[in-house]
Amino acid sequence: MAIDPTRPVAPEFPRVAGRDNVPAHVPKELVLPYEIPFGQKFLSAPYDYMASLHHSMPPVFYGVSDYSNAWQLIKHKDASFMLRESSVFSNEGATPFPRDPEDYFYFIPIEIDPPDHRKYREILDPVFSPRGVVQLEKNIRKLANELIDEIIDKGECEYTSAFGRPLPVYVFLDLMGLPLDKCDTFVQWAVDLLHAQDRELMAQAMKSISDYLKEVIAEKTDRPDDKVISRIVHASVDGRPMTAPEIFGFVIFLFIGGLDTVFATLNNIWLWLANNPDRRREMREDPENINQQVEELLRVFSVTFSSRVLSRDYEMHGVQMKKGDRINAILPACNFDPDAFPDPTTVDFNRKRKFNLAFSGGPHGCMGAHLARLEIRIALEEWLRRIPEFSLRPGTKIEYRPGGVIGPEFVPLVW
Ligand code: HEM
Repeated sequence: MAIDPTRPVAPEFPRVAGRDNVPAHVPKELVLPYEIPFGQKFLSAPYDYMASLHHSMPPVFYGVSDYSNAWQLIKHKDASFMLRESSVFSNEGATPFPRDPEDYFYFIPIEIDPPDHRKYREILDPVFSPRGVVQLEKNIRKLANELIDEIIDKGECEYTSAFGRPLPVYVFLDLMGLPLDKCDTFVQWAVDLLHAQDRELMAQAMKSISDYLKEVIAEKTDRPDDKVISRIVHASVDGRPMTAPEIFGFVIFLFIGGLDTVFATLNNIWLWLANNPDRRREMREDPENINQQVEELLRVFSVTFSSRVLSRDYEMHGVQMKKGDRINAILPACNFDPDAFPDPTTVDFNRKRKFNLAFSGGPHGCMGAHLARLEIRIALEEWLRRIPEFSLRPGTKIEYRPGGVIGPEFVPLVW
């Protein structure tokens, strides 16, 4: 399935959904109801649900829902293999976001398979590499403290709107070169696109984002700056300027991928911290272990998934999959795989180190991972230093947001 990134065409293999659309080669006993990401069983306790898959499901099964049918992987080893083996598991057409087939574009870099993929990643390596993100540390810490200054004397806040969302979203918008005062609008667009069950609403959100970003791209073409969108607009691939669909596909994917993943992660972590005062104390008493603490919290609160399309027939655990089938690694479930992480649902800050799949892995491993880790570390350090004791507001009922990025909608706190 080699594609030409300069001539985007809609993928050959359509997305299928529902019980009536199961391909004939899928064994009936492997067709199982799939609650992610909209089912009630999943939404009432997503992490319990994903951990329980290891008791209720075979390692490979065919998940059927009204949203999308696909093979599902829950073992760490299988997912790691899928993520590395791009010659079998392709990224072409693997994202769920709607597009006009007449005006098609690829989401870059996520829909480009190696070796072309690397050429796009290289453009932003200076910004997102460990060395690049470390330069942001001072500003992120300052912003975290300014946000805490606003709430500390009030003795309460709604965590998401007061801290969890503005911290990473401001950092991200500033990096991209987008106006901070449109933060709420951008977040709403991203939420509609990533969390709506209604394809109409998704399409509308996609249109709003597209119209806006096209204007920004035109502006940065005329007036370059040193921010990410401008770097993309003025970058070369194979010694040529990028085409308009390449530039657009790159900018829009960053917008989608970078906007709500960090705050969903922070929301999950703060909900857990609020309910676990002893573990908060343990963290504060062992500040040298902060990086391991961040990794362990990312493992148990992984927020998203990796999807691919088979570019040839392939057998896994004796299950015959066919070219064109979709396959999804349920990354949070893989991070609860007892064969990879003994006693997987226990948060253990001294766990033997093993690569967790919160940011997936292989060539498409998250480009924003170093930035996200830094933001989470600083958020924990500054908040626990200044607001060490806090709890959920009494009577709070936590509701998880449906969709492709898992996290509670609101986390009201008191201290
Ligand atoms: C805790 C926060 C985050 C999590 C859990 C996360 C998770 C992921 C995952 C699982 C993938 C791989 C998807 C796949 O294999 O199909 C991915 C890819 C990606 N992420 Fe993140 N992400 C986070 C934050 C960010 C941020 C802040 C940015 C941008 C500033 C970002 C940009 C990207 C990009 C560009 C890709 C595509 C990489 C490629 O295809 O080579 N992510 N992310």
